[in-house]
Amino acid sequence: MEQTFLMIKPDAVQRNLIGEIVARFERKGFKLVAAKLTTISEPLAKKHYAEHDGKPFFHDLVSFITSGPVFAMVWEGENVIESSRKMMGKTNPQEAETGTIRGDFGLVMHRNIIHGSDSPESATREINLFFKKEEIQSYEKNV
Ligand code: CMP
Repeated sequence: MEQTFLMIKPDAVQRNLIGEIVARFERKGFKLVAAKLTTISEPLAKKHYAEHDGKPFFHDLVSFITSGPVFAMVWEGENVIESSRKMMGKTNPQEAETGTIRGDFGLVMHRNIIHGSDSPESATREINLFFKKEEIQSYEKNV
């Protein structure tokens, strides 16, 4: 079954939005198979955001994502990568539709509440960066 990596960013953790955001994915029917509250090291942040290395916002991005705890998760389900990206809304909260996570809770691009993998390849890479195999659960879900 398809898996994706989702990460609630420091801004949303500090605003007590973890429960609200997790509830949306639970209600949708996806299965939470791994989660941890953790503060990311600078080397891990740089690896995670390697594709943005060299962009003007890279330094601020790394500094923001390491500024406080994030809630890192692995979710599983049919088409979870594309579907969770729809639920998050556009990267820029000002362009994200109302009803999406960024549209409902975000104001600005550099504090955009949540990150989600954008392809199966990034999902595999990001899950492996943040979680060991034994931290990922396998269980039956009765829907
Ligand atoms: P995320 O989905 O975590 O992936 C990369 C992040 O870079 C993105 O969310 C935004 O927070 C940030 N980002 C992308 N483009 C810009 C930009 N032009 N200015 C500032 N931050 C950006």
